Amino acid sequence: MADGLALHQVGVRFGGLIALDDVSLTVGPGEVVGVIGPNGAGKTTLFNVVCGFATAHTGTLTLDGRPFRPRPHRLTRLGIARTLQGTGLFAGLTVLENVMAGATHTARTGLIPALLGLPRSDRDERRLREHARAVLADLGITEYADAAPDTLPFAVRQRVALARALAARPRLLLLDEPAGGLGADDVDSLAELIRGLPHRASDPCAVLLVEHHMDLVMAVCDRIVVLDFGRVVATGPPEAVREDPAVVDAYLGAALDEAA
Ligand SMILES: Nc1ncnc2c1ncn2[C@@H]1O[C@H](COP(=O)(O)OP(=O)(O)OP(=O)(O)O)[C@@H](O)[C@H]1O
Ligand SMILES: [Mg+2]
Repeated sequence: MADGLALHQVGVRFGGLIALDDVSLTVGPGEVVGVIGPNGAGKTTLFNVVCGFATAHTGTLTLDGRPFRPRPHRLTRLGIARTLQGTGLFAGLTVLENVMAGATHTARTGLIPALLGLPRSDRDERRLREHARAVLADLGITEYADAAPDTLPFAVRQRVALARALAARPRLLLLDEPAGGLGADDVDSLAELIRGLPHRASDPCAVLLVEHHMDLVMAVCDRIVVLDFGRVVATGPPEAVREDPAVVDAYLGAALDEAA
């Protein structure tokens, strides 16, 4: 069976409503896979299934070929990190401390003793701090290390949220609508960042990107899965998906007409 994450014929119901129906997809090591689809297509539900916030009533998930029952609190230990819609940063912590918080599972003692400066955690804390600084540098936001997140522009906060997720050294990063609320320039630099994730010198990671923003998805994904009414209506590389008549009908028609 394939390495990486795989969903096999996953179905999710909410009462009588079928939110996902027979959905299969894979995210292999080093791949950037996008999930797009119109409102209510099931994108967030799919994201939630992988995070363990929603349960698959039918079908299975595997991670490196082994059965995988996602639980939110176990994800980072399995090498999976996520960002959520909005940035969800801790307002009481600095940018650097927020990023340190993302990596605490790698330290022997938790963040709280580390932040309180308890003696036995000195070395752990120093290591965490260095690692967090390296991630900030990698994402080009070192200058904000000591700032309070809520004093920063949205695009920077969003980058901090990404840094926090990456601090956990994931091999798979799950992104839910990361372009939401960003202007065109910021979307371009986000695209560059996402494209680079599988090729980072340290801790390269694959990406599952759930996103409305068509340009971003087309620009960064190796493969795109198109959902409509909870079903996969197309899957393939961006150029194939863009031309797929089922996709044009279901979703892209209006957007392409607008762009023409
Ligand atoms: N917790 C829930 N309880 C009941 N129905 C739900 C729940 N979550 C989602 N749904 C329904 O499941 C379907 C899929 O919703 P989902 O949020 O996954 O779509 P989406 O593709 O993320 O849409 P959007 O683009 O608007 O974010 C919708 O019909 C939605 O109303
Ligand atoms: Mg959604």
